[in-house]
Amino acid sequence: FRVLVGTFVHSKSRSELEYIHDAAVAVDDGGTIVAMARGCENGNAAKDKVLRETGWTHRHVDLVECGEGQFFFPGFIDTHVHASQYPNAGIFGKSTLLDWLEKYTFPLESSLADLAKARKVYTACVRRCLSHGTTTAAYYATVDVPATNLLADLCLSLGQRAFVGRVCMDREELRPRHYGDESAESFLHNTQESIAYIKKIDPGFELISPILTPRFAPSCSSEGMKGLSAIHRREHLPIQTHVSENKGEIQLVADMYPESGSYAEVYDDHGLLTPKTILAHAVHITEKEARLISQRESKVSHCPCSNSSLTSGEARVRWMWEQGIEIGLGTDMSGGYSPSMLEAARQATLTSRHLAMRTEDQALREKTKLTVEEALYLATRGGARCLGLDDKVGGFEVGKQLDAQLIALGLVQDDGSRVGEDEDGHVDAGNVDVFGWETWDERIAKWLYNGDDRNTKKVWVKGRLVHSRR
Ligand code: GUN
Ligand code: ZN
Repeated sequence: FRVLVGTFVHSKSRSELEYIHDAAVAVDDGGTIVAMARGCENGNAAKDKVLRETGWTHRHVDLVECGEGQFFFPGFIDTHVHASQYPNAGIFGKSTLLDWLEKYTFPLESSLADLAKARKVYTACVRRCLSHGTTTAAYYATVDVPATNLLADLCLSLGQRAFVGRVCMDREELRPRHYGDESAESFLHNTQESIAYIKKIDPGFELISPILTPRFAPSCSSEGMKGLSAIHRREHLPIQTHVSENKGEIQLVADMYPESGSYAEVYDDHGLLTPKTILAHAVHITEKEARLISQRESKVSHCPCSNSSLTSGEARVRWMWEQGIEIGLGTDMSGGYSPSMLEAARQATLTSRHLAMRTEDQALREKTKLTVEEALYLATRGGARCLGLDDKVGGFEVGKQLDAQLIALGLVQDDGSRVGEDEDGHVDAGNVDVFGWETWDERIAKWLYNGDDRNTKKVWVKGRLVHSRR
């Protein structure tokens, strides 16, 4: 049993954070929050209240108290990340999507058929993501089944909640000679194999779930996509892919699928636009496509770091929200340069400001800008809703599972030093100095804009401690 005591911060709505001070959360051995005390006089009273409620005794609980300048925050949910591309994070040159795939991405992904290399890359990737507070990730692996299954194994053993997608690509035009599926049959057969493996290691999909992963329309045959749709209807599995990221890509799709009216309609025509579909990017979607995506209740993963790195464009988050589309946030590593969801959230606000700068209409300009609260919603509850996990994670409520991080900011003392500083003036609280007079909204803003993994002291998934910093 575990009891967390202190300040809890989470999204109350899309535009509002809730600060729950002097609170306590009791977590059972299954990782479920079974009691929560709020509005108490102090942390001790809150702790005693949940102990009374659960009937647990002090002796049997692992107590985690947050200190000064610390708070609990829900774990981040990365709705789009290529685990296989981790070694290339930060390497993209001057490329745009299609030549980047050819030059950087396909060679790296195909090299992960070497299982020793895959183990090294995937272990480092999952550990890195956990250290940045990412408790759930929707991963793309590669086309290789054993390496994909290895990623699932590693997520399970390292304790990260994950959707693991075996990448499908069977169209010759958009795959290198030695990387990809030979045919639609192998495309589907290999997908089934990976699904069967995950069913074996995590039968109830408690932590790891398979996700159908047609890479994107240009690399998938009609037959392959229809086959994946049939698997979706039979097994109710989620689907992830890319849409309208880059103008050259959109033209390619129009040439390849002239009978479909638009990029989004290609997926719809193949039965892949479903409430369990998560579409990455959606930078250049038209109003008609947005309406279709909204009607189908498909979700969008906003990937601002990637959209800037690969100069794909600026996705219009506010506009998509107005069309009724649910949106989450993705790092899209290594299209995106960083595994950090805090970085993605920060860039989401900056991208919205770039969009705002391009309009003369004052009211529209103000509306276009995303707030700190909205960016952090995208990184937590928004992502949970996109992945169908909002009954399980994304905030601190009784009945949910404890997927959370303990965040520490550098509290500056009267002599200018920071709490916890050693003789060498060293303190492991990164770049965020708080002076004690800031409001909580201001502290959170400072964390968003100046924070990094040094502020993430502990991370839990399903109640299990999966990362800890000194
Ligand atoms: N479109 C197809 N494959 C990819 C990929 O690996 N990354 C990004 N950003 N877009 C893609
Ligand atoms: Zn991607």
